[in-house]
Amino acid sequence: MGRRFPFPIPNGWFAVAWSGELAAGEVKPLRCFGRELVLFRTESGRARLLDAYCPHLGAHLGVGGTVCEETIRCPFHGWRWDGEGRCQEIPYAKRIPPAVAIDALPVCEKNGAIFAWHHLEGAAPDWEVPDLPEFVDPTWTEPEPFEMDLATCLQELGENAHDPAHFVTVHGVADVPRSDAEFDGRSKVSINRGSFQTPRGPVETVIRGESFGLGLGVTRVSGIADMCFLAMNTPVDEENLHLRWAFSVPRVGDSTRAEGVGRAFMNEFMRQLQQDAPIWANKVYTERPMLCDGDGPIAQYRKWARQFYSEV
Ligand code: FES
Ligand SMILES: [Fe+2]
Repeated sequence: MGRRFPFPIPNGWFAVAWSGELAAGEVKPLRCFGRELVLFRTESGRARLLDAYCPHLGAHLGVGGTVCEETIRCPFHGWRWDGEGRCQEIPYAKRIPPAVAIDALPVCEKNGAIFAWHHLEGAAPDWEVPDLPEFVDPTWTEPEPFEMDLATCLQELGENAHDPAHFVTVHGVADVPRSDAEFDGRSKVSINRGSFQTPRGPVETVIRGESFGLGLGVTRVSGIADMCFLAMNTPVDEENLHLRWAFSVPRVGDSTRAEGVGRAFMNEFMRQLQQDAPIWANKVYTERPMLCDGDGPIAQYRKWARQFYSEV
């Protein structure tokens, strides 16, 4: 549990790297979910994620470990581990001790990123990372990446979409956006209608956000122009997040103009994020908030979010 928030790290799929950051044969130390991990890509091209510490004598596999075919070789005594965390070879022993294993996290790769399934009780994935058709559509631009660290937890970040009143005070939008939300199983949809600031003044805009667990969100904007982005928000530990967002817009005529519009939207979302950041970094979570009739569906959001936490 964190100090400011009464939540463990939630269960679900979370991005741990961009696909392009991990070439075949590459090894990376990672810190996320409050754990030390090692990410590697096998010679056949499969991304794998294991606990970082070798059960033999504790070396960090992400620091000096090397990929050997479909395994990672420990830098200390050369034991080889496959992507399921099984020991495949001890170069100087005749027998592999029977119970020896490293914890392996399920991994999937799509939309230009590598995702890991984190579950505090070790349960298997029970939903899938969504595919973004726009990201493989040649009439849409290549997704443009953005990254940022934030001193908060996913529960707080997710509440943002259901809190229309702060868009006026924090983000300077003209009126409180009209906000609807539907909570359905593992996913939820929020629709915010309102005016967006542009250099030509406020423009009526619809922002539709679909969430998959607490760490993945697909946002589609329509109104002034179309755009979509995939927000991949990953817990580093109970009180810190690493955000990876990827933006795409339709190519219209000359792609320079399309990219200009996309970049303007991207900048607006990043501007809003930077406005929220100091509030999140310093606030506490109020278990029993004093809500009023103008507030959004914060209570429903909190009820929906509960399913992603293990009792710890
Ligand atoms: S610590 Fe990894 S092989 Fe010895
Ligand atoms: Fe906000």
